[in-house]
Amino acid sequence: MVGNDGRPISVALLGCGVVGSQVVRLLTEQADELAARVGAPLRLVGVAVRRPQRHPDVPADLLTTDAAGLVTRDDVDVVVELVGGIEPVRGLLLTALKAGKSVVTANKALLAEDGAALAAAAGESGADLYYEASVAGAIPILRPIQQSLAGDRVVRVAGIVNGTTNFILSAMASSGANYAEALEEAGRLGYAEADPTADVDGYDAASKAAILASLAFHTRVTADDVHREGIRDVTAADIAAAKAIGCTVKLLAICEQVDGSVSARVHPAMIPRSHPLASVSGAYNAVFIEAAAAGQLMFYGQGAGGPQTASAVLGDLVAAARNRVIGGRGPRDSAHADLPIVAMGDTRTRYHVALDVADRAGVLAQVAGVFAEHGVSIATVRQEGRNGQAAEDDRVRDEGDGAQGSRDATLVIVTHSAPDAALAATVDALTGLDAVQGVAGVLRVEGLGRPVTELGGVT
Ligand code: HSE
Repeated sequence: MVGNDGRPISVALLGCGVVGSQVVRLLTEQADELAARVGAPLRLVGVAVRRPQRHPDVPADLLTTDAAGLVTRDDVDVVVELVGGIEPVRGLLLTALKAGKSVVTANKALLAEDGAALAAAAGESGADLYYEASVAGAIPILRPIQQSLAGDRVVRVAGIVNGTTNFILSAMASSGANYAEALEEAGRLGYAEADPTADVDGYDAASKAAILASLAFHTRVTADDVHREGIRDVTAADIAAAKAIGCTVKLLAICEQVDGSVSARVHPAMIPRSHPLASVSGAYNAVFIEAAAAGQLMFYGQGAGGPQTASAVLGDLVAAARNRVIGGRGPRDSAHADLPIVAMGDTRTRYHVALDVADRAGVLAQVAGVFAEHGVSIATVRQEGRNGQAAEDDRVRDEGDGAQGSRDATLVIVTHSAPDAALAATVDALTGLDAVQGVAGVLRVEGLGRPVTELGGVT
């Protein structure tokens, strides 16, 4: 590819919603600055939308309903896609890339499902494929992983990458509200969509986890490879239990490289309040990276919103346009490592288990026996009276009752790390014990300071 001799770079925009309209605004308002940075003017040549009449702020001669016609126009250099979803966008972007047009997209679902096909099409034609806005909105996170950390070995990425669920969990923690009440508040304030499924069931975060894992570990991870659990089952009691052990509950996207394999998962977890991710509240996002040489890094900011996401889109657009001007191209996705995916059952996690039990002699031994049978080591045990008072107080008061007392209590157990399948089987077996009246809550525990070496980063 040769330079373009300072000719304007022509940009086609697909979709003009919350983010797209901000891209149009910034392209117009910052035209001179952008031209100076790129080395040539950025010229918006078309905006494909479904209903042109809904976009009075866009010059009418730019609006079209013919997205396929727009992406195949000879004069288009860069296609910016802000429509979302898999079809018809996949076909449009593959057509554009195969024709040598660079693509800037925020489409996490498409990248997590078929990023390999997009990257291959870009590779064949020499076009650029940039997608910084697809993960954590305004936060520059993909370029740092792909470029700044290219000489390091990332061993773990743990992110709060969904603002809606972080808002809900933060509201539950600060007010004691239950999930339904917090979801209702999130909807009222415009954080949760009318159908919140993509956010609360973890689909959005799983797509982002797939993208993060692919870049961090130089391999291909799709959304189907990501174990996914949402936040619908998180209770006010779980939040209170987390508080009681100095933790807070977050929906985490966790990507790890362990022994030459990749584990990628999204699930709620307790993390210590001292962990940097614990202080990320409301609709904010943050991504915490552990790398062998760099150590721990944290990226924080707004993960959604029109201007915020448009900032990331514009950054990519400037990069793609600069490459056109100088006649080069940006770094390709590197998937050379081609690592296997670890099943969730084989991933090592820690559990916090709260059990409602009969408070009588031998119950703790039985419960501990079930953990032992499954090879799960217990880290801490605490007993509370059913009304929440500490067990020690109960013991003092019950001294005269003898061993046959049959009060009710809650046993709170935190395990050491073990294969997730062993932990799940342990909980299953516990429900079969006569002395166990019910499982009051089960949540994974993360961030208790596993050293980088344990994660396979340094030997
Ligand atoms: N719905 C997402 C969130 C933003 O709540 O963070 C777009 O990925």
